[in-house]
Amino acid sequence: MSHANTYMTGFGNEFATEALAGTLPVGRNSPQRVAHGLYAEQLTGTAFTAPRAANRRSWLYRIRPAAVHGRFEPFSQPAFHSDFGTGPVTPEKLRWSPLPLPQAPTDFIEGLYTMAGNGGPVAGTGVGIHLYAANRDMQGRWFCNADAEMLFVPQLGRLRLETELGIVEIEPQEIALVPRGVRFRVALPDGQARGYVCENFGALLRLPDLGPIGSNGLANPRDFLYPVAAYEDVEGEFELLTKFQGHLWRAPISHSPLDVVGWHGNYAPCKYDLRRFNVIGSISFDHPDPSIFLVLYSPSDTPGTSNLDFAIFPPRILAMQDTFRPAWFHRNIASEFMGLVHGVYDAKAEGFAPGGCSLHNCMTGHGPDAATFEKASRADTSRPDYVTDTMAIMFETRAVIRPVAQALQAPHRQTDYPDVWMGLARHFSGG
Ligand SMILES: [Fe+2]
Repeated sequence: MSHANTYMTGFGNEFATEALAGTLPVGRNSPQRVAHGLYAEQLTGTAFTAPRAANRRSWLYRIRPAAVHGRFEPFSQPAFHSDFGTGPVTPEKLRWSPLPLPQAPTDFIEGLYTMAGNGGPVAGTGVGIHLYAANRDMQGRWFCNADAEMLFVPQLGRLRLETELGIVEIEPQEIALVPRGVRFRVALPDGQARGYVCENFGALLRLPDLGPIGSNGLANPRDFLYPVAAYEDVEGEFELLTKFQGHLWRAPISHSPLDVVGWHGNYAPCKYDLRRFNVIGSISFDHPDPSIFLVLYSPSDTPGTSNLDFAIFPPRILAMQDTFRPAWFHRNIASEFMGLVHGVYDAKAEGFAPGGCSLHNCMTGHGPDAATFEKASRADTSRPDYVTDTMAIMFETRAVIRPVAQALQAPHRQTDYPDVWMGLARHFSGG
């Protein structure tokens, strides 16, 4: 697959790119005959009549239309699904050690491991939260998610996402978004990989408004990078895997679907380096709410109440005086699934390792552990704290995040996790 390691910039911009000169038609999207004997195909990611600011679609000019492949049959990968159940769900605080790396050859799709979620592709709202651990490239197969856009958050090893619209390479502390319906293959340049994936069944992820922050700050639009067109013209006996309504399907295909020679539009994969996030916080006292760390969000039908918030806790300077500097103890109406991409998380003394994760659901009391509380209560707040060497992430949702059975029963679940708060002593000195 030809590869120009360059990107176009600007979140959700209208791009035009061609790997072969003269591919893109001028003045129309679907001319009677496309240059170079290509087919024209539109891919829409929003309703035809979505407001212009939210409307997403791209035109692909390709060797064969996406319709050309064999018949679908079920494909078994039972660890990756969207069955979040309807029965009782524990309100317990949950935490897991990193997902073990596989011993047997395992590609990205085989290495997906569903942890939790809510809603689903039937409802058109909610999220699916998954881990992955893999040790070989996808070979002779491509994947398409008809249920959700996918947010990739690697923790170990790079991912090379070869998509219909071009190649996106990410390393830990970077993220990638692959839109719903885009076909792609995952290669592992480092030979092994582990991380987090969030499927968004709701409205497409977007940048937040900035309100009083002003016209700059948080994730800046120009730091979102989109691939230039790249294609491969390969024939053989391959397979196309598709996730459709929560389950996987397989169809034979006798050519690579990565045969888009040029495209234009605003519906395309992209990447973002979390280290470019402009972190904003208090310079007097107290903490802002964690929404100040919002990278992208998926709105719901209630203003200000997201289907999904993707937030990060990056390196930052804590200058607040006479303030308990770790995040306060709290109970929220939102539900929080956290991961750690790099380093140490400052609200926990130990047990939350890179590659691990935690789940604190709606109204479940949580916050710093006992050791962190004791240390922070005695800290000198006349001087700033430099929080370095860290990158935690959070998928936060308005609906309860339902852990699936394999996550609750997993050997890497830390069943003693709720005990980290049991050492918080009584200090009351009144009455
Ligand atoms: Fe929390």
